[in-house]
Amino acid sequence: METLWWSTLFFFFIFKASTLKIINPGDVIKDGGETLESENGTFEMGFFSPGNSNNRYIGIWYKFSNTTVVWVANREAPVSDNNGVLSFDNNGILTLFNETNGVVWYTNPNTSRTPHEPVLQLFDSGNLVVKEKNEDDSKNFFWESFDFPSDNLLPGMKIGINLITGFEYYISSWKSSDDPSQGQYSLRIDPHGYPQVVLKKGSETVYRAGSWDGHYLSARKPDDNPIPLYSYNFVINENEIYFKSELKNSSFISRYTMDPSGLMQRFIWNQMKNEWQVYSTAQADGCSTYGLCGSYASCKSGRFPLCSCLEGFKPKSSMNTSDGCSRTTELGCSGDGFLKQRRLALPDTSKSWANGSMNLKECEEFCVKNCACTAYANLDVTKGSGCLVWLDELIDITEFSQDVQPLYIRLPISELDKIQRKMEKKKAVIIAISIIVPMGSMVTLFLLYKLKKNLSNKGKTKEKMEMQIFDFATIANATNNFSSNNKLGQGGFGNVYKGMLKEGKEIAVKRLSKDSGQGFDEFKSEVTLIVKLQHRNLVKLFGCCIKGDERMLIYEYLPNKSLDNFIFDKTRNKLLDWERRFHIIDGIARGLLYLHHDSRLRIIHRDLKASNILLDNDMNPKISDFGLARMFGGDQIEDKTRRVVGTYGYMSPEYAFYGRFSMKSDVFSFGVLILEIITGKRNRGYSDINHNLLEHAWRLWTEGRPLELINKTIGDTDGGNATTSDGTYITSEVLRCIHVALLCVQQRPEDRPKMSSMLLMLGGESTLPEPNQPGYFIEKDWLPSATAADCRSRKQSTSSNEVTITMLDAR
Ligand SMILES: *[C@@H]1O[C@H](CO)[C@@H](O)[C@H](O)[C@H]1NC(C)=O
Ligand SMILES: *[C@@H]1O[C@H](CO)[C@@H](O)[C@H](O)[C@H]1NC(C)=O
Ligand SMILES: *[C@@H]1O[C@H](CO)[C@@H](O)[C@H](O)[C@H]1NC(C)=O
Ligand SMILES: *[C@@H]1O[C@H](CO)[C@@H](O)[C@H](O)[C@H]1NC(C)=O
Ligand SMILES: *[C@@H]1O[C@H](CO)[C@@H](O)[C@H](O)[C@H]1NC(C)=O
Ligand SMILES: *[C@@H]1O[C@H](CO)[C@@H](O)[C@H](O)[C@H]1NC(C)=O
Ligand SMILES: *[C@@H]1O[C@H](CO)[C@@H](O)[C@H](O)[C@H]1NC(C)=O
Repeated sequence: METLWWSTLFFFFIFKASTLKIINPGDVIKDGGETLESENGTFEMGFFSPGNSNNRYIGIWYKFSNTTVVWVANREAPVSDNNGVLSFDNNGILTLFNETNGVVWYTNPNTSRTPHEPVLQLFDSGNLVVKEKNEDDSKNFFWESFDFPSDNLLPGMKIGINLITGFEYYISSWKSSDDPSQGQYSLRIDPHGYPQVVLKKGSETVYRAGSWDGHYLSARKPDDNPIPLYSYNFVINENEIYFKSELKNSSFISRYTMDPSGLMQRFIWNQMKNEWQVYSTAQADGCSTYGLCGSYASCKSGRFPLCSCLEGFKPKSSMNTSDGCSRTTELGCSGDGFLKQRRLALPDTSKSWANGSMNLKECEEFCVKNCACTAYANLDVTKGSGCLVWLDELIDITEFSQDVQPLYIRLPISELDKIQRKMEKKKAVIIAISIIVPMGSMVTLFLLYKLKKNLSNKGKTKEKMEMQIFDFATIANATNNFSSNNKLGQGGFGNVYKGMLKEGKEIAVKRLSKDSGQGFDEFKSEVTLIVKLQHRNLVKLFGCCIKGDERMLIYEYLPNKSLDNFIFDKTRNKLLDWERRFHIIDGIARGLLYLHHDSRLRIIHRDLKASNILLDNDMNPKISDFGLARMFGGDQIEDKTRRVVGTYGYMSPEYAFYGRFSMKSDVFSFGVLILEIITGKRNRGYSDINHNLLEHAWRLWTEGRPLELINKTIGDTDGGNATTSDGTYITSEVLRCIHVALLCVQQRPEDRPKMSSMLLMLGGESTLPEPNQPGYFIEKDWLPSATAADCRSRKQSTSSNEVTITMLDAR
């Protein structure tokens, strides 16, 4: 009895103490503390239970972050209790036994060789390897876990296909955080056409990283970090196709992880803070959905609408942007040429053909001869060599704001002529502008100089709302040198970064991009105006930072980001019940009222939209981005401006067409915003039905069923006080908001209410007139019509998109 007790204790101690570095035949790992550690202790292997599950699995995790499991052996076959045993035998086979000695999982090594002295070792790369004791050549390993990835792609791991055996290695999501068995998503190589990396949901492609262009995967931009962390390798030969990434500096710890919803993110371990930080996200923007815009259309993040037809193509349907585009003029096969596009990522290559030894000229000739060829490009951008031709409709094309490798798109000569004439006209405009602008900037330079002087004088007089001038080093420091980890998003005028000042105060830094079109003008007006403005529903500006021609604005940091992140998002949408939404509408009205009437200055926002409404911790709305605001004299109620700024979809008709803005154009945008908050749908890009949102709202209103507008997540429309799991909303309050919104979006500015009566209206303290038909027609007309084209060219007056045209001998 006594001895038995002692030996149990003895075993217990062995258990606790055993962190093994190497496993020899006959050794076992039992559940309950025994682990295998990598040489330098980065990784550890042993039994674990994921999330809230009680099932036991063999996994590999980071020793310093033991909840971060990067690999699971028996993902499809859990052990249901704590009596599992992993054993290693003379043949180099790993077997997982359960309590009753049943085989749960085992490795299937290359059986053509018999090991002499097999060992099991966990490498510091996270690779679990069965090998001959003194053999370090990876070619001769018997088995390695890197050949069977789970949901993590570690540096040095590959995804690919063995073309001889047909064996495919890819990463796949867990079913849920409690269940590591294979879920719906997988990141793999699609070998069709010119091979590319794709994310699949089941058998359907949902995201495309693209094919190898000699530098990176061509559908995406490489890390925009100045010092890229990774080097990439894409191999295509007769034996295999694979993609691999490796860390350039092995002192970093990083992983690429797919979560159960298919979201793919690269994380970096921050040793100072002892936490993982997101380094990059594959599905970073609205354009990451595969084929979102349909054929012959490009998707550009931050553009409204996201989708736009390629030059020489027109929308198939004016309402559904995912229908794609068709040729304005059909191809003739022999009378065709090519349009060189510099800002388009390469389209889907699953129906393409590639030849590594052809040059661009031969590539063009090949494409000309083949009537099915729709476009061509270089295969390797780093060497400027090789030929890639597309043999079908072009699909899934992301548009960037800077040049990437050229794509040559086949168009009929007549279409190329038209485009060339348009380009020449545009050039003429640009020349005209570049004569005017230098004169303008001399004036603004002078103004800025005066402004700077004024500001420093103010500093001395110690005003309550003083503006701070931050020096560049402070800001660079606060934002980790504008690291992409700190990037919060991309506003209309440049990137926004999160920063932390030495005192621990969090800030948002808007770094104005030099080519964004925001001149000294807008900068100056933004700084002078906003610093003076203090209101609960306005974002606070602390100051600015100027270095050379770099200009930055320093704002208070709001952790909840912007309203569009909530109302247009399937999941976060649910966080906003009706009470919250009404509170937000009310807050925006108050902020706008202050801008229009109550502040010392009279300010017209001009670009009011969901992404310009930020939310603080308590979901109070704060209006941001006054870059476009203009100072007004007391009696001047309308101004005419040559430059139309603002966002289509929110713009009143008189502003969009004639550039005429007034407080009433802000009221129009506010009306659109109310409808978007109620419906959870964007006005621009509204594609559920054959109408835009305003049209839809108007129709339901005139048909006496306005409550059908309500977002399903707020509640149903039957009954007086509808109830949902999210709470109650008051029908009359919703109705009143819809009514007010329709009053705001009326076509004639003079019919729209003033902000000063808005709060009374929303509060139900005044009777509301019947609304007239909204001024929504711009939505339909602006695309093809001449007036709208004018608007557009006014908007992008200094586009530097290079388009060159090659003509071919027509035979
Ligand atoms: C492990 O650490 C030693 C000493 O610091 C170092 O020389 C060796 O390269 C490391 N091995 C790996 C695989 O990182
Ligand atoms: C992970 O680490 C924590 C803290 O060091 C420890 O309490 C816990 O038992 C560890 N879990 C595993 C599975 O090793
Ligand atoms: C152990 O595994 C075997 C074979 O997989 C299975 O039949 C048996 O039910 C398992 N026993 C327990 C206790 O889970
Ligand atoms: C097994 O190993 C042999 C010799 O190294 C190799 O030629 C063969 O391709 C391997 N088979 C598999 C299926 O990996
Ligand atoms: C790798 O990163 C460390 C830490 O950031 C740095 O000190 C070191 O110089 C880097 N090494 C190389 C070769 O870049
Ligand atoms: C690729 O192009 C080269 C040069 O034009 C040609 O010799 C070769 O046959 C082509 N390869 C294929 C597979 O078509
Ligand atoms: C828009 O087009 C896409 C693709 O053709 C289709 O799946 C979707 O149902 C369409 N939506 C509407 C509202 O017609």
